[in-house]
Formats: sequence, structure tokens, C-alpha cells
Amino acid sequence: MVQVLQELSLPISFEELQQQAKQKLDKKVFDYIQSGSGKEETLQANDHAFKKWKIIPRYLTDVSKRNIETIIEGEKIAAPVLFAPIGMQGISHPDGELAVAKAAGNKGLPYIASTVSSYSLEEIAEANENGINWFQLYFPNDLELAKSLVQRAHSAGYKAIVITVDTNMLGYRERDRDNRYSPFKLGKGIGNYAVDPVFIRKIQGKNPDDFMEEMIKVFYRQNISWEDIAYIRQCADLPIYLKGILHPKDALLAKENGINGIIVSNHGGRQLDGAVASLDILPSIKEVVGDELTILLDGGIRRGSDIVKALALGADAVLYGRPYLYSLALGGKEGVEQNIDNLMQDLEITMALSGASAISELNQDLLWENN
Ligand code: FNR
Repeated sequence: MVQVLQELSLPISFEELQQQAKQKLDKKVFDYIQSGSGKEETLQANDHAFKKWKIIPRYLTDVSKRNIETIIEGEKIAAPVLFAPIGMQGISHPDGELAVAKAAGNKGLPYIASTVSSYSLEEIAEANENGINWFQLYFPNDLELAKSLVQRAHSAGYKAIVITVDTNMLGYRERDRDNRYSPFKLGKGIGNYAVDPVFIRKIQGKNPDDFMEEMIKVFYRQNISWEDIAYIRQCADLPIYLKGILHPKDALLAKENGINGIIVSNHGGRQLDGAVASLDILPSIKEVVGDELTILLDGGIRRGSDIVKALALGADAVLYGRPYLYSLALGGKEGVEQNIDNLMQDLEITMALSGASAISELNQDLLWENN
């Protein structure tokens, strides 16, 4: 339901939100969040990709009964939006993931908790006990540690495992290198490792500096294979999503390997600079996988029209990233909730003005390509 505008403390426009977060956050923290890798060509391409498509609205259609709900993994969600996994949210606000997960649950949207969260996955699940949580796995070198993380997620009630496949090394992030900044070395480090029994056993007897090094090392498995993915499936009976798929041939392999869903993503332009924009490659991926697995997309989702375009080109839902982090920095849990209210209103209005009253009505017929 479109609401009358209430009094708002947060700016509505993404650009203004980003600007205010820049003023509030420490420069190194803001740079870490906002920047991409290399020359930031992929970061910019994500934004540009949405501008290449224009909506051709249909009028004289009945949009008096509007519904932006959808179903993902058998669960009804309030809008085709999931919270992208974002690590170390404690650098943006002391409540970090606890605030964001609770806001997601309150707004009826799934929250994807990162392996490298500031809080542990158990604390996040407790904060969002009535909502839907998924767990994102950075595949560690150590299979026993991978198993421990996934089984902990299963026990804590997480509903799906998202394996990020585009991070066999951290991208070459020039601004973080200039700033000599890594959030992983702050405080107690990675919340999920700090309490993991397998990790604790591994670092026993090491001094705190080595402990931090060990934390950082363990999250890149550089020889990750389809057998490793099958191994994760055996660790817990949960749907598996692969995040970071860009090549249609990998999408096809995901389908052949019985993966439940893929997230078409270039990690918000933070990994391979020069990689294709997620929206640009989406139609080719949809063509090879059809309706056989769920397709999610992220990278550059800022407004309702971005969601409409992504769904019209074949995504079932999108992941929302940087904007919620800026809202967290500016307004904690309430800031995130306000931002989501705005996004949902924008989506509903955009759909109605395009002539669509339900998510199922969004298809390529509504789009015009403007190269
Ligand atoms: C991320 N992303 C990310 N992805 C992931 O799988 N695990 C993680 O821990 C993180 N951490 C992370 C931190 C920060 C600060 C950012 C900005 C991004 C990538 C994230 O899930 C998503 O793919 C991008 O954020 C999408 O791009 P936009 O829409 O935020 O520009």
C-alpha cells in the first residue's frame, strides 16, 4: 500500500543518502564501502547497465489492486528483494548485522548473513528470530571448518546456503590499499570464526597477531570445485545458491549440478574490475537456465525502476546492498526500515505506472533497449 509520506529523518534519494553517510563515517570506512576494485569500471558499469533499458508503459490496464509480494524458496516475501550479504557491518554502526537483520524481518524480507559478519550467525538469527535468514559462506580452506559453519547455520534455523564463488582472492581495491585499511583486523575480527569450535581448535596456542592472520587466510579456498559444492550439500539439507555467477556456461553447470539458484553478481564491482555488469549478462543467463533454477541479481539496485528492469529481464528477485548500509550508518535499525519502506513504495508506484499490478506481469515486453 502506498502510504502518505511521514516525517522522515533520512534522505530518500540514494545519492543524498550516500553523501550524508560519507559525511558521517570515517573516511577509510566510507571508502571501503563505496569503492570498487581497480579503475572501478565494473562498479560504474553496474549503474550504467540500468540506464540502457527504458520502460515502455502499458496504460488502460487495471492497477487498482496491487501486489508486490513474491515467492522465493517456497516462502512468501513482501517484495522481490533480499538483503545482500555484507560483511563487518559493525564498522558502519555498533548494532551492525543485529539491527539490519531485525529490520529485514520486520519488513518481511530475507536477510543473508555473511560469513564475515561482525556478529555471529547465532546472534543474528536470534535478533531476527521471526524472519527468514540465509547464510552466505566464504568457502574456507579447511573443509571441517566449512562443515562446522554450515551445520551451525542449519541448527540456528537458516533456510538456505549461499556460496560466494567470486572471491578466491580479495579484489585489488586501490582505495583500501591507499588507506592501509582492512576491517577484518578490527576488534575481535570475524564474529563467526571467533566462536567456532573448529576455528578455536585451529588457533589454540597462537598469539593474537597470528590469530588475525589465520582468520583472513581461512576464507579463501582457491581451488573450490563442483565436488566442494556437493560436499556442502551433504553437510546440511538446505537449498544451495551460488553467488557471483556471470558466465552463462557456469550458469549451465549450476543447473546440471542441481544447484537451487544462482545470484548473478560481480560483488558490486569489488572483485574483478573489467567484469561484465550483472544486468548486461542477465538475459544470456536466463536464456540458458530458463525457469529451472531461481535467478537472483545484484549490483546497482537503488530504486524501484531498477528492480522492475531486473525482473523484466529474467531475475526472480534482487539483492539490495550498499543503500541499506548507508541507512544503517545514518539511522540504525529504524534507518534501514525507513529506507526499505521507501524502496517498496517506489517499486509499487513504478510497477503501477508501467501498467503492472503483480510481479508475475513483469517481462521483457515492457522494456526498450537504448544502446
Ligand atoms: C559486499 N559484498 C559481499 N558479498 C558477499 O558474498 N559476502 C560479503 O561478506 C560481502 N561483503 C560486502 C561488503 C561491502 C561493504 C559491500 C559494499 C559489498 C557484495 C554484496 O553482497 C553485493 O554483491 C553488492 O553489494 C551488490 O552491489 P551494490 O548494489 O551494493 O552496489
